[in-house]
Amino acid sequence: METMLDKSNTTPTTGVNTVHLGMVGFGTVGTGVYKVLERHPELVFEKIAVRDTQKARQVEGLNADLITADPFEVVRDASVQVVIEVMGGVDIAKNLITEALQNGKHVITANKELIAKHGAELLALANKKNVRLLFEGAVAGGIPIIMPLKLSLAANQVEVMAGILNGTTNYILTKMSQEGWDFETALKTAQEKGFAEADPTNDVDGFDAAYKIAILSSIAFNQSVNPEDVHCEGIRSITAEDIQTADKLGYVIKLIALAKKSADSNPDIRVHPMLVSKHHPLANVENEYNALWVLGDAVGDVMFYGKGAGELPTASAVCADILAVCRGLLKGNDPIPSMTFEYQGSTPLSSIENTTNRYYIQVNTADTPGVIGNLGQACGKHGVSLDSVMQQGTHADGNACIVLLTHEVTEGEMQAALKDIEAQPTTQSIGAMIRVL
Ligand code: HSE
Repeated sequence: METMLDKSNTTPTTGVNTVHLGMVGFGTVGTGVYKVLERHPELVFEKIAVRDTQKARQVEGLNADLITADPFEVVRDASVQVVIEVMGGVDIAKNLITEALQNGKHVITANKELIAKHGAELLALANKKNVRLLFEGAVAGGIPIIMPLKLSLAANQVEVMAGILNGTTNYILTKMSQEGWDFETALKTAQEKGFAEADPTNDVDGFDAAYKIAILSSIAFNQSVNPEDVHCEGIRSITAEDIQTADKLGYVIKLIALAKKSADSNPDIRVHPMLVSKHHPLANVENEYNALWVLGDAVGDVMFYGKGAGELPTASAVCADILAVCRGLLKGNDPIPSMTFEYQGSTPLSSIENTTNRYYIQVNTADTPGVIGNLGQACGKHGVSLDSVMQQGTHADGNACIVLLTHEVTEGEMQAALKDIEAQPTTQSIGAMIRVL
């Protein structure tokens, strides 16, 4: 049961001059947050938990007495009203945030994996304790997306969202396209430039984007989406040849996080490479930039664009949440009550076999009479209608490279046709199967 005591911890009934902050994590984003908040003398740090208390910090005038190695000191400090979690990881961060919320503190986090996996449970706890849990920094760094989706687009039914939500993969695909590099060269350069981690799995295999689209879909559809249910394919199989062929056809290849909801079917939420028409606004999102394109039933299409990572871009989003909460506290109000999330349960997602797409298929075949006819027959047999068929020249070994573009069909029909194509004696290999946005 809610008590007056629970609320009085953090929700003063009259205005105050200062708000007391605690932060767990003082890495890249934490440093950015500290720097941005230096402009706000009304916001006072009480405690900052760090992994290495001896490490020199890239900020001026830091009071060493604020620093602790124990993150639980921050969430248990009675003077702290707002906890900023920028340490990352799931298990310890979840325990910390749970305890902070239970102690009646507002929480701001940039932790996408945690919010994607446990957001519904933590948000329910925040509602119960009448405190805010905000996470603008968890999706697409500096781009304002969470608050616009929750508040500014609230009058819309979101029909489709398509995002480039991972800067590392967008940088790699841009360089493969513009410089003709192969995947490995582009990945190595991304690592040298600090975009990609030493272990790039989360980025290049699409998991990072899957966490982000799960968070966005939960807000847009008001139903909790489990990131493990999101069908996820990365960009490792994309070749410079695919990119060049797509270019000739008027497309670029992007790693797209897609979410669609129709009244009569389960939400279709997935991450995989897609051919994007050069006329689509997402086609021009290059290098490490991120973007989210949203189609709402009232607004039509809108697009959000900017830097999806980095010290100050991510700090911009985290600090926006901090300021939104602190401005309420300074006035003695319940801070930003419109940013409460009450998801209506969770929902099963459409299986990938039931999704509908247009497809780009590249087949390596023997260059003999009747090959194109056989490909057409295999497609026709499974209800796959072809939009165009092109022979992209002949390989040095005498085999042909044939590209098919289909009309919209289900994934199940396309896979059945591909199985038949693979079984044809003239087929050497299916070189690529890429869905078209
Ligand atoms: N690793 C992410 C990216 C940034 O490359 O976009 C943090 O989400």
